[in-house]
Amino acid sequence: MTHRVGYVVGSLSERSINRRLAKALARLAPHGLELVEIPINELPLYNHDYDGDYPEAGTQLKEAIESSDAILFVTPEYNRSIPGALKNAIDWATRPWGTNSLDGKPAAVIGASIGAISTAVAQQHLKSILAFTNSPVLGQPEAYIQFSDGLITEDGEVTNETTAEFLTLFLTAFAGHIKRNLG
Ligand code: FNR
Repeated sequence: MTHRVGYVVGSLSERSINRRLAKALARLAPHGLELVEIPINELPLYNHDYDGDYPEAGTQLKEAIESSDAILFVTPEYNRSIPGALKNAIDWATRPWGTNSLDGKPAAVIGASIGAISTAVAQQHLKSILAFTNSPVLGQPEAYIQFSDGLITEDGEVTNETTAEFLTLFLTAFAGHIKRNLG
């Protein structure tokens, strides 16, 4: 059986290193996992005046999450937290009140930065948010990718064998987490 994983890239940049990482993960996905992007770039800034008349982009986001078996967040760290664009997408996904699309959805978090501690602090913030949205998050392995020039090509080829092996291990652990949570 194949589980469909919707992945959200926390960066809107066309040159995003996290998008490269997401492409690498999609290429490395083991048998039984299919990774499909859930775009967040068309979403307006959320406020609850939209709740009575959700825009198309908000509805599409919710439908994409609901039709996925699990969600993978691939995100940069901005000022030691998650980017506003990603928080905005999560806010859209959880509203209108009583229709939280992330409720019970198995999740995993990974991210890349050139910094020595990578995206560790942003990931802790994101995991705290996902506890509130009631989305069970993969605990181990934690995945803090320190990006260096050429580590992943633009089309998602990982040039370092140890990194490729680690990403495969991460995806295999996520597949196990999804199976345990979906029963
Ligand atoms: C950053 N960057 C950054 N890096 C980091 O490791 N910790 C941080 O707190 C921040 N803060 C931060 C804030 C803002 C506003 C920007 C634009 C950047 C650097 C960041 O890791 C780098 O720009 C990455 O390339 C961003 O990821 P994407 O967009 O390339 O995927």
